[in-house]
Amino acid sequence: MTGRLAGKKCVITGGGGGIGGATGALFCAEGAEVVLLDLDEEALTRTTADIIANKLDAKLTTISANIAEEDDASRALTEAAERMSGIDVLVNNAGIRKFTHLVDATPESWQDIISVNLLGTAYCAKAAMPFLRESATGAIVNVSSVYGVIGRKNMGQYDATKAAINSMTRTLAHEEAEHGVRVNCVCPGGTLTPFHKARFAADGMDQSDIDEIQADATLMRRWAEVEEIAYPILWLASDEASFITGVILMADGGKSAK
Ligand SMILES: NC(=O)c1ccc[n+]([C@@H]2O[C@H](COP(=O)([O-])OP(=O)(O)OC[C@H]3O[C@@H](n4cnc5c(N)ncnc54)[C@H](O)[C@@H]3O)[C@@H](O)[C@H]2O)c1
Repeated sequence: MTGRLAGKKCVITGGGGGIGGATGALFCAEGAEVVLLDLDEEALTRTTADIIANKLDAKLTTISANIAEEDDASRALTEAAERMSGIDVLVNNAGIRKFTHLVDATPESWQDIISVNLLGTAYCAKAAMPFLRESATGAIVNVSSVYGVIGRKNMGQYDATKAAINSMTRTLAHEEAEHGVRVNCVCPGGTLTPFHKARFAADGMDQSDIDEIQADATLMRRWAEVEEIAYPILWLASDEASFITGVILMADGGKSAK
């Protein structure tokens, strides 16, 4: 099937690569007009070139912005809406990670991760909402994590922000239903992106070590490909999900069912 997002004007935060870049590619392939938003201009340039190499007529532009700053998030969403004459879909995908036990977490690192993962998501939703309310089919898809639902050690700050995104998804679904805006959330499990590959390589791990991490962690015994997260995001953004709001959708290879 093609054209599942035909005519939709979409903004994807953290669109510079990984899950956001794959979502941008899929949205373009399905006929959307897309603005990729990211802090990292080089990543935006790289991802845009990759997408256009595969789809010459992709309706794709980029905006560089820091979603952790409310003024910048607002500026970027307004610019995207002016450029596309509206916004139908916002994918709140940008995020950062901290690797530390909670007893060692500093006020600075808390501020840092809350500013991007939680406040950045809230700022983008707020800035996009007037345009989403004007759309006949406004939709937000937040990208959370399986660890916003289940526990582990060593990434408690990140996991707390993801649990907060799940909560914010439900609240926004309540508040925006009367304005015709659906708000849902995808919770990926381990998804092998360039970020992970670089991190594992720096730790001297080879592919069998990397595969081993997920072997016992998920029912499906493997990492997700980025496209396997982009497809659930696409579905929730599309009119195929027109009666779905407030959903926290696990895309985790069965991890949360273990
Ligand atoms: N990859 C996984 O295994 C996995 C699992 C669960 C959830 N997630 C979530 O999926 C989303 C995408 O993950 P990914 O693995 O593709 O990550 P990634 O690190 O490859 O991409 C995140 C993007 O967000 C951008 N970004 C960071 N801070 C920003 C800011 N202040 N303003 C604007 N952009 C900013 C980065 O530049 C980067 O391009 C994240 O929210 C992540 O938490 C990923």
